[in-house]
Amino acid sequence: MGMTPRSVALGIALIATFAAWAVLFLPGLSAPNSPSNIVRPYTPLEREGRVLYIKSGCIGCHTQYVRPTDWDYSDLRVSQRGDYIYDRPHLLGSERTGPDLSQEGGQHSDDWNLAHFEDPRFVRPASIMPRFSFFTRQQMQAIIAYVQCLGFKMADERMARQIHWHRRLLAAYRHGEDYNATYLAKLVPRQWMTMPNPYAATQGSVQRGKFVYQQMCIFCHGPVGDGNGPAARYLNPKPMNFTLLKRHRWSGGMIYYQVMNGITGSAMPYFKEDLESAKIWDVANYVAVNFIGRNVDSGNDLNGIPASREGAIPGTKPLVPGAGTKAPVPGPARKVYPQRPSSSPQPASTPAAPGGRSQRH
Ligand code: HEC
Ligand code: HEC
Repeated sequence: MGMTPRSVALGIALIATFAAWAVLFLPGLSAPNSPSNIVRPYTPLEREGRVLYIKSGCIGCHTQYVRPTDWDYSDLRVSQRGDYIYDRPHLLGSERTGPDLSQEGGQHSDDWNLAHFEDPRFVRPASIMPRFSFFTRQQMQAIIAYVQCLGFKMADERMARQIHWHRRLLAAYRHGEDYNATYLAKLVPRQWMTMPNPYAATQGSVQRGKFVYQQMCIFCHGPVGDGNGPAARYLNPKPMNFTLLKRHRWSGGMIYYQVMNGITGSAMPYFKEDLESAKIWDVANYVAVNFIGRNVDSGNDLNGIPASREGAIPGTKPLVPGAGTKAPVPGPARKVYPQRPSSSPQPASTPAAPGGRSQRH
């Protein structure tokens, strides 16, 4: 048989069919379709939330897989084929305008998620995620149930911790705000309770802390630190009123510990993935100086380590007057406590957000 155009075309078609079969269909047919060790079927409410996830276009901004190359999600589990056996259609996604959600369940409390869907700015003031406040109550419950199941058995374990601590925190909160403050302090390991803030509360540190506060904390804890930010009405227990801590035992280390790890069971998130350590110390200085009205840094002793941050050597005159001076603690003249937050707190004008999980690809 000669090389007629017809036989060449037939040959090409045969090779293409074989290649497609070998590359596309054979792996699918031969792959074992067994569940992974974490997967479980969806409950009806979760399934309802999944449909809503599809309808709302969440997939346009969120993925649901972690690859071995996603080193910045290294504390999360790398996804396996068997994680998806209940997913028709699958919701892997390809855009990461927001963070990957494959292990989202239990990372935050239900009330954090409620406030976040009502308006993401309530809990992440710099967020660009759209609001979903138009969801009905039933839809809100469904989408939260769905988000809280992502990660399946691993998410269930985290949720069990959330629920356990939520009950305890609520009980303490209902006992009154002073009881609550004492209870929360007891959850902090002793070595952190006695640790001063290693960064001097210089004007620079407090100013940087203020920026972090406006980017991360303001709509929960409020512009005057009394816990009355706009998110508060969705949260239970409510955000801490810092001015209350004036009558309690607290330290720079305590604030650091709570901001780093969050308070499981409440909406207070953990910031160890969003903020570097220096920023947490700075925001602790800001909270201490501005809302509690006291300094809890390491004091004035110059041990010479962060030379660029410290003041002049005692007994000498600083070369640059004012450099390294402590931020003034507002005196009692400034009425912080009874004030209500103003209706429109101004977020910082600088556009750059401190590092977050949101901008990763
Ligand atoms: C326009 C893009 C966009 C859309 C659409 C979107 N998100 Fe987001 N999402 C983001 C960004 C950005 C963040 C990170 C900032 C934040 O937390 O708000 C985020 C954060 C989240 C988080 C918090 C993750 C964490 O633990 O930090 C959850 C949960 C979430 N989105 C769920 C959803 C769901 C469910 C939908 C659909 C109903 C949705 N998102 C639609 C962009 C989007
Ligand atoms: C989504 C809302 C939310 C955000 C955002 C938030 N917090 Fe909280 N925070 C809370 C809630 C709620 C509590 C109280 C939990 C309780 O009473 O059980 C709390 C408690 C605290 C406490 C514990 C105080 C004590 O006396 O034990 C500190 C410190 C704190 N927050 C600091 C911060 C800082 C700093 C930021 C920003 C970096 C921040 N929080 C962001 C909701 C939030």
